[in-house]
Amino acid sequence: MCSHGSIGRRCLLPHIMCGIVGYIGYRNASDVLLDGMHRLEYRGYDSAGIAIRDKDSIGIQKEVGKVSDLEKLVSSMKPGGHQGIGHTRWATHGEVTSLNAHPHTDLRKNVTLVHNGIVENFMELKAELEYSGVSFTTETDTEVIAQLLAQIHHGDAVSSLVELSSRLKGSYAMAILIRDEADRIYCIRKGSPLVLGIGEGESFCASDVPALLPYTKDFIYLDDGDIAELSAAGIKTWNSQGEKISKDVCRVDWDVSMVDKCGYPHFMLKEINEQSRVLRDTLCHRVNSSGIDLSAELTISSAEVAALKKVHIIACGTSYYASLVAERFMENITDLDIRVDIASEYRYRSIVTGKDTLAVFVSQSGETADTLAAERLVKKTGATCIAVTNNPNSTLAREVDHVLQLMAGPEIGVAATKTFSGQLAVLYLLGLFLGKQRGTLSTSQEEKFLSEFANLPYKIDTILMKHEEIRILAEKFADSRNFLFLGRGLSFPIAMEGALKLKEISYIHAEAYAAGEMKHGPIALLDSEVPVVVINPRDELYEKTLSNIQEARARRAPIISVITEGDVVSQKNAQASVSVPATENDLTPFLTVIPLQLFAYYVARHRGCDIDQPRNLAKSVTVE
Ligand code: F6R
Repeated sequence: MCSHGSIGRRCLLPHIMCGIVGYIGYRNASDVLLDGMHRLEYRGYDSAGIAIRDKDSIGIQKEVGKVSDLEKLVSSMKPGGHQGIGHTRWATHGEVTSLNAHPHTDLRKNVTLVHNGIVENFMELKAELEYSGVSFTTETDTEVIAQLLAQIHHGDAVSSLVELSSRLKGSYAMAILIRDEADRIYCIRKGSPLVLGIGEGESFCASDVPALLPYTKDFIYLDDGDIAELSAAGIKTWNSQGEKISKDVCRVDWDVSMVDKCGYPHFMLKEINEQSRVLRDTLCHRVNSSGIDLSAELTISSAEVAALKKVHIIACGTSYYASLVAERFMENITDLDIRVDIASEYRYRSIVTGKDTLAVFVSQSGETADTLAAERLVKKTGATCIAVTNNPNSTLAREVDHVLQLMAGPEIGVAATKTFSGQLAVLYLLGLFLGKQRGTLSTSQEEKFLSEFANLPYKIDTILMKHEEIRILAEKFADSRNFLFLGRGLSFPIAMEGALKLKEISYIHAEAYAAGEMKHGPIALLDSEVPVVVINPRDELYEKTLSNIQEARARRAPIISVITEGDVVSQKNAQASVSVPATENDLTPFLTVIPLQLFAYYVARHRGCDIDQPRNLAKSVTVE
């Protein structure tokens, strides 16, 4: 039994990051499936469907929209079976229609399945099937899988699945009902995530643990190529060759309340408010009386650390911005050559790595396709690979040499907030560890950082208490069509993160610039209609940024500044300002990001946006 500290987006139509759920047991299957699908909506939410087996018949219901739209349809039909599969879909290409929603079947309905991933050779397979007389009702790659499996399957289901996977190229996680296998659900995965849940007289599968938390805490994580058979009596597993295997059962210590809103109107607001707890939990596991101690997770010898020359940090989106902050911090306290790259760029460049490289992959989900692809390339060169992730059982976590887990607990809101703080905290600790091991960080510096780290949760709480002040400010600017975010040094990536939060949940155009770069172009955008959000804590670049504020003011742009408490000069130079408590210069990002998250939240709320599930986005980007 292993343990689990906390958990943790080509084909013609369906570039899909989706959520899948499967259930077999004694409960009403549609209830379990819909409940699980609600908890997976963060993975995709443009259409949904379920297939329920009741005696010999398999009934399929699909609906465009959210799981709640499907729920209305299902509640009028009241399906009674105790076995079924469900799917919530997120498509990047093609129409969102009920026809293209999952589950998909072959024409005779011998095989019914839900699928997360992409079958890259589906055109080729489809042409073969069409040549042999099969006709198709959708343009999805998933229907191709269903038709292919129906053609392959004669007799033993596991052998049929072994053959199926030998024919498929790409990534997939599937839950499958086979007509002549009445009391079973089959699962198979390669590339896309899938967990199995163990119950008493019932079995489950889902794309992610939160979907099943109300029912079980015991999980099996399938490896690439694994096949599973779920029945009310239990779970059997086979490897990609069809050989029977036994898998470890992992007990998760997450509570179902962790995936509930607990009275908050949105998961995002709940998660913003959890950030002081995240910092406390991050530190409490890694700091003791002798200072920073990562030995439980990083078994890198002093000689190995001494031999390092460079640190490459690779990530996407918010995780990339957290990495940019960490880059600047690590530069200040180590002698290492640090670089940060966007995974989707890094993987296609000729960047030299090797034994002298510490490669740090930062991913909340641990399933981001580009980050994983970059990790696989770097690993081959002999670099030491570390995952900084909220999901210690993710594909990324299982492929790297060392895992530094975020102590954030499940993040359900699509916009990352508490995992950003968790990533910052873990990356800072990694920087301190490297500085200490290489002798570039003195004991007094280490003590100074660690003691101020311990104060940050309290300081975060004082900022969170200003939510009403930030709400009023946000509502005043909520009708603006464009925002510019500015910052220097450590505050530049915070400006990028603030702009990302605003655009992804409020759909307002927001651009972030290094404050010193504004006069090299973006200043042309400024007038009285473009608010400029300036992140300007009292650090060594404060005066420089103050000059940039004057330049923006001279173009009549309204200034909203995030400043250090007591900074009267900045207050006088802004239309509005939000202050944060003073802290060590290097630690200001932990505080300055909080008002920006709240600002984005309240702007989006005022505009009536779907905050937890913004349009066109999905939480886990499992395709390239
Ligand atoms: C923004 C956001 C995304 C993710 C990005 C990487 O709020 O959540 O930009 O940060 O998709 O995801 P992970 O960290 O799971 O690799």
